[in-house]
Order: sequence, then structure tokens, then C-alpha cells
Amino acid sequence: MKLKYSLITRRTFLNTLFFGWIAAFFSGTLYALMKFAFPTLGKEPDFVVLNRKDFTDLANNSIKRFPWGGTVGLYFKKADGTILAMKGVCSHMECNVDYKPAERRFYCPCHQGWFDENGKNIKGPPPKPLEIFVITEEGDKLIIAKKGVKVELPKA
Ligand code: FES
Repeated sequence: MKLKYSLITRRTFLNTLFFGWIAAFFSGTLYALMKFAFPTLGKEPDFVVLNRKDFTDLANNSIKRFPWGGTVGLYFKKADGTILAMKGVCSHMECNVDYKPAERRFYCPCHQGWFDENGKNIKGPPPKPLEIFVITEEGDKLIIAKKGVKVELPKA
């Protein structure tokens, strides 16, 4: 059956096209802005498995970086020999932090944020400490996981 007239007017069609285009443009822009402001959003693993031998020679009062999803993790051997693993990303706006051995503190160059050697925020804009991970040794593997995450590696 052929209709004698259209169910959609030209105005409705053009309005739908126009506002659809506007909605697509702004949602794309918003997505790009979110990815820029929070580049690691949705890219974080619960744990990583590393080779233990890569970290055995680490000197006291120094760090070694490891990949943590789309960002970086820090394996840190304190001056007294204690080991910590933490997320190497500032709690303010997710810049990478660096370790200053002479001052025994972590530094974020983006807005001069400082963290003590336990990752606690002590100066500048960072609102909370660096995220500390749990370290487990299993054979020749080093498992670094978020707190509360239980990791079971498949048996070889
Ligand atoms: S991002 Fe680190 S202080 Fe702002």
C-alpha cells in the first residue's frame, strides 16, 4: 500500500539530522576530553606477573619501573632494604612520579607534588597517597597485585 503523504515532514527529518549530528559531535568531543584527562581509565590490571630475577639486583634506596597496564608501577627498595611496590602515577592528575634518592621521597613534576618513601602524600596538590600493591613471590615469579585481589597462577 502506498501512502499519499509522508509520515515525516521535511522539518522533522532535518531537525533529527541536525540534532543527531550535534549529539554525535559532542559525545565524541567529551570522549576525547575524558581520554585526555584520565588516560588510564579502564586500563588497569588487577595484578601483573614479573620475573623475579629482574628485580633481585636492585640497590637499596632505588626503584625499578614495571609495566602496570597502560601506566607504570614502581618496585621500590628502601634504604633499609624493605621492599614496596606501588603505582607510579600521581593521585592528583595521573602524571608519572619519580623517586629522588637524595631526599628519599617521590616527586611529581606536574604540579610539584611530593610523597614520602611510603607513598604518603606530604606536600602539594595530591589528595591521597600512591596506591600500594601487594607483592607475592611464587617460584621464579613475582606477583604484584592490588590489595584484596587473590591471584592463583596456573600450575605448569
Ligand atoms: S599530577 Fe601530580 S601533582 Fe598534579
